[in-house]
Amino acid sequence: MLDVKNEALAQIVDAGKINELGELKIAYLGRNGKLTKLIKKIKDLSAIEKKQAGILINEVKSTILDALATQKNTLKESARDWFDASIPGKKPKIGHLHLVTQAIREISSTFEKIGFVRARYPEVEWDWYAFGSLNFSKWHPARDEWETFIVDINPHPKYGPMALTPHTSSGQVREMMRAKNPPIRMLNIAKNYRRQSDISHVPMFHQFEGLVIDKGISVVHLKGTLDYFARNFFGKNRKTRLRPYNFPFTEPSFEVDISCGICKSKGCKLCKEGWLELGGAGMVHPTVLKNGKIDPSKYTGFAFGWGVERTYMMKAGLEIGDIRLLYSTDLKFLRQF
Ligand code: DAH
Repeated sequence: MLDVKNEALAQIVDAGKINELGELKIAYLGRNGKLTKLIKKIKDLSAIEKKQAGILINEVKSTILDALATQKNTLKESARDWFDASIPGKKPKIGHLHLVTQAIREISSTFEKIGFVRARYPEVEWDWYAFGSLNFSKWHPARDEWETFIVDINPHPKYGPMALTPHTSSGQVREMMRAKNPPIRMLNIAKNYRRQSDISHVPMFHQFEGLVIDKGISVVHLKGTLDYFARNFFGKNRKTRLRPYNFPFTEPSFEVDISCGICKSKGCKLCKEGWLELGGAGMVHPTVLKNGKIDPSKYTGFAFGWGVERTYMMKAGLEIGDIRLLYSTDLKFLRQF
């Protein structure tokens, strides 16, 4: 009897698979199992022997059953917890910030290094801040509903109707009112809205706007700031040029171009004779300073502003690409950056 028990226990501990345990159970406790055969022999024993043998067999049986259960658990546990520390791990896929967020951060840090401070003003704005205070005439086409999203609420008696702000310039007079006294070195990066949708325009886009006001500020400071930006954002050999233009809120006004990074200003397919158009700039108009409660006989200033998306696509060499891709959530496009 004890031989059968020891043999069974040794085989159970050796079993490496759960189905082997099932076979062992049959081999010992099944209808023709080794222990079952011993049980069948009990009937030939004397009454006293029968009793002792019965107790012993029950003990052996429960020992075998316990051993089978224990070994089964051990095999299950080791299958679950087995861990090979030498196999290289699976890297989780890591995403990245959206291109526009990357662009905003890069533009901010470039200007912050020379003392500009980020500001944000309302996206839904009174006509006064978006147009009136910036010297736009009453009938300027930008005020047209076909150009700007006008909000359907009653106009304010002083500030007029409301619109989804079409440019970051609407932060200029707000910043002057907030700062009260110059110096001002504002960088306003915000969402803008215009009724437009084609390969190079989206109805919601971002602009960044710089505004500097202090005593003795001239075009030289504007040019220096733009060249600094060109070198630091686009690359050390890039420079800007100013072309005369017209904006109601600056005098004089300029369009800012940047030297082409592909042909080094010689002229190529990408650029117009060596230059690419960036955006607008100028010296803050005295009327705008007055609207911001700043005395134009003491202070002067410059401003510049243009699109974040376009600027970033130009940096990535995607000047001729479709700007709408930026908002298309097409991962094949976005993952390239
Ligand atoms: N707000 C103008 C636009 O959206 C861009 C602009 C031009 C901003 C001249 C300026 C500036 O600050 O001085 O087209």
